[in-house]
Amino acid sequence: MKRSFVCKSCGHVSPKWLGRCPECGTWESMEERVPKPSTGHTFHADTAVAEAVALSDVSSLNEGGRIKVGMGEVDRVLGGGLVPGGLVLLGGEPGIGKSTLLLQLLMRLEAKGEKVLYVSGEESLAQLRLRADRLGRCGKGLFVASESGLDRILGLVDDLGPSVLAIDSVQTLSAPDVASAPGSITQVRESTAWLMKISKRLSIPVIIIGHVTKDGAIAGPRVLEHLVDTVLYFEGDRSYSFRILRSVKNRYGPTHEIGIFEMRETGLEEVPNPSRLFLGQYASAVPGSVIVPCMEGSRPILVEIQALVNSSYLAMPRRTVTGFDTNRLALLVAVAERHLGVVLYDKDIFINVAGGIKVSEPASDLAIIAALVSSLQGQPVCPGTAFFGEVGLTGEVRPVGRADIRLNEVARLGLRRCVMPILASQGMHVPEGVEVLQVNSLKDAINAVIKVS
Ligand SMILES: Nc1ncnc2c1ncn2[C@@H]1O[C@H](COP(=O)(O)OP(=O)(O)OP(=O)(O)O)[C@@H](O)[C@H]1O
Ligand SMILES: [Mg+2]
Repeated sequence: MKRSFVCKSCGHVSPKWLGRCPECGTWESMEERVPKPSTGHTFHADTAVAEAVALSDVSSLNEGGRIKVGMGEVDRVLGGGLVPGGLVLLGGEPGIGKSTLLLQLLMRLEAKGEKVLYVSGEESLAQLRLRADRLGRCGKGLFVASESGLDRILGLVDDLGPSVLAIDSVQTLSAPDVASAPGSITQVRESTAWLMKISKRLSIPVIIIGHVTKDGAIAGPRVLEHLVDTVLYFEGDRSYSFRILRSVKNRYGPTHEIGIFEMRETGLEEVPNPSRLFLGQYASAVPGSVIVPCMEGSRPILVEIQALVNSSYLAMPRRTVTGFDTNRLALLVAVAERHLGVVLYDKDIFINVAGGIKVSEPASDLAIIAALVSSLQGQPVCPGTAFFGEVGLTGEVRPVGRADIRLNEVARLGLRRCVMPILASQGMHVPEGVEVLQVNSLKDAINAVIKVS
């Protein structure tokens, strides 16, 4: 048989041994590939003959087939619940609360009568129990195992026959027949492929946790994103107690939905009213502070944008942005200079989206410029005013989607005014108590609320 060498880190295969992997650049990572005898697990004896059927003859998975988790925020992010046979990857930075969220989900599922198996390769059973005690009551249908060998886990699944399987984490798994260390790309990829087949074969949802490094680098779940059905990221700022569950890929539901939780001692609590959380201690009559109703998936969230504009003593003035795109800010600064006649080239600019949330919608353009001008002039915008609208290069304010939903949220949170684009479709329902100011130019928008000197 021909000899071959494989990189433990990235899986690159070479016919001869090399000191440094040409693919990922890791030193001394090449190992000779030794074919191991098969473990004899039934999963290996996959000799079924392939067959094709007419798609119209295939019975569909009806919506009722979904398994609802029972946590509204999670179900919405999943697109209505877990899908039998679906593999969900739950990624996140170390210590953000992945295991906590997973255990809470499993406890809810168990309470609904599901038979749940939670396999942890990271924590002992006593440690799992410690966490479970903190989170609530655990019933008899939640089974746990501290195991990392994939063949033993598969054996366990066959014996127990769970209706939901959860693995914490994919980086601890070691698949038989793979020589490289757990957590290496080859192991992670191979283990996931196995779990994928298991979930499809048994038609049960499988949830796996994956650690992400800061840059989503090697052995992070990034390499798995195309393998699995659904990718959820659990993220948050360590300095805040809230966490966001974000769907970045979903074969069976919408993406860009988010679920918001607050980390408490008793576990993660759903936040049904996120606008209140992000508006926090909003003080309306302060220069440089503006409110924007952003859409996160299908939900509106009111967010406070803060700007600080100061004279700069640097040759290259500072542009420091938290929670917003730096390039977009450069564009908006250019538009403001040209169309409002304000001077910003010699100013340090700091933008902060309060609460640590990220705002990526163009609908926040108008609010950013309003905050910049307000800080520059040292004048607060009219109290209780929200802004939304995309700003174009020619200084026009362009319409954005979901205007009515945004307006409703503005009204719900008790704001009294909203500066927004002129909509193509008239007949928009304006909630009671909100004065709507429709503008089509940036100048009109800003002049209406701040006196540009
Ligand atoms: N008693 C407690 N009170 C409040 N929060 C707690 C308590 N215990 C743990 N936490 C929170 O839970 C977080 C850790 O949660 P968890 O172990 O689920 O994270 P993880 O993402 O699974 O971490 P890892 O990557 O290490 O597996 C901590 O950062 C902390 O915020
Ligand atoms: Mg964990």
